[in-house]
Formats: sequence, structure tokens, C-alpha cells
Amino acid sequence: MIDWHCHILAGLDDGPSDPEQSLTMAGLLSQAGFSTVYCTPHLMRGRFEASNQQVRQGVEQLQQTITRHGIPLLLQPGREYYLDERLPELLRDPLPLGDSRLLLIEIPSSIPAESACQLLYGIVRSGFTPVIAHPERCPLLEPALQRTERRNIWSSLRRLLHVQKRPQEKQHFTTESTGNPLLEYLRDLGCSFQGDLGSFNGLYGQRARTAAETLRRLNVFDRYGSDLHFPLQAKSILR
Ligand SMILES: [Fe+2]
Repeated sequence: MIDWHCHILAGLDDGPSDPEQSLTMAGLLSQAGFSTVYCTPHLMRGRFEASNQQVRQGVEQLQQTITRHGIPLLLQPGREYYLDERLPELLRDPLPLGDSRLLLIEIPSSIPAESACQLLYGIVRSGFTPVIAHPERCPLLEPALQRTERRNIWSSLRRLLHVQKRPQEKQHFTTESTGNPLLEYLRDLGCSFQGDLGSFNGLYGQRARTAAETLRRLNVFDRYGSDLHFPLQAKSILR
């Protein structure tokens, strides 16, 4: 099994604080059946700014340590890029997932859908394939089924309260596929989608869990990741 998204490197982001924790995580991932782990520290301007060189060095050092401890796990470098207006500048020196042309990208809920489309289109034009990290945790990419459920709740409330229908709720989505126009655009663009294992276990709440199950049923995911940040999380993620 391959873990496509993991914060196993120490001291580079909000992952483990020391190499001992990284080693523990490597052991837990191996025991859970993983043979390859992509090390993907956050790259977010103003918050997590480790250089690509630091990531490569971190991978090399941790690989030596886990090999010395007899843990059969192959580490590969990567990053988790944050989608904002500064990303094009950061991608002048990209660090894809291993030897691939894949770039792991997190879409924040604060970004307008149009900006997300433009930025991701630019990445595809430059010859890379965006791997959208945990879309089930991104409200912008919520499948329509859940929206339908929520709208039904609002309709019931309105009926109860005798409130008029709000005009902006006339906007609708297509009923085919996921029903989310942004998600469908990104699928058409050729993006890949990585689900977080913890989402299926309810680690991020019921909404993310339902979205994860829906996206899996609709065959949106083509890869999965632990998104593990520290050893204690393994109990709820790698079960
Ligand atoms: Fe992550």
C-alpha cells in the first residue's frame, strides 16, 4: 500500500517535533501494511516555509534511520501545497511526489471557486497534475447529495417558520455525477483526488465522513493517504 500524504518528517511543519516520533510513525505505518510513504510537509507562506532542500534532506535522513531499524518502508519526497495566489511563484521550483509530475494541493475553504479553477488550470497547463488533498474536507468540493440534504433541512425549517424562499437558493447544480460544478470541472481537467483515511473513521466529523463515503462511491478518489501528523493519531487513522 502507498501512503500518498503524510507529515512524517520532523520539525518542518505541524508534524512530529523530533526524529523519534518520525521513527515511531514509520513503524506504525509499516505495521499497518504500507510499503511506500510520500513525505508531504505543508508549504504555506507565512506559516510553514521549509525549503525543498530541507524536505529532501529530511527524507534521506529518516530513510537511513528507518532502514537501520529494519523497518521495510520506502520514503519519497513531496509537499502539500496550499492553493492561494502565491502558489504560482512557489511552483517555479516545484517538488512533486517522488519522480512523478503529481503535485499534492490543498484547497482552502476561503478561496473563491473561480480563483481555484484558474490556479489549477495554470498548473495543468504547466505540465503537472494536481492531486487534490482530502476533497472530502473541503466545503467547496462537497458532493451535491449532501447539499441536497442540507437544502431539504432548510426547506423544512422555512415551512415550519413560514419564511419565503430566498432568491439565491434558485441556483442549482447538475444532477449528474457528483453534482458539484467545481469538482466536475477539476475531474474534467484531469486532477487526481486523494482521500484521507481518517475521514472514513469520523476523525474530522460526520460531514467529512459522509462526503468521503459519497466521493468513494462515485469513484472520485484514485489514491488515499494517512495525513498522519504524530504517532497518537495512528490509533484513529490506521485501524
Ligand atoms: Fe496534510
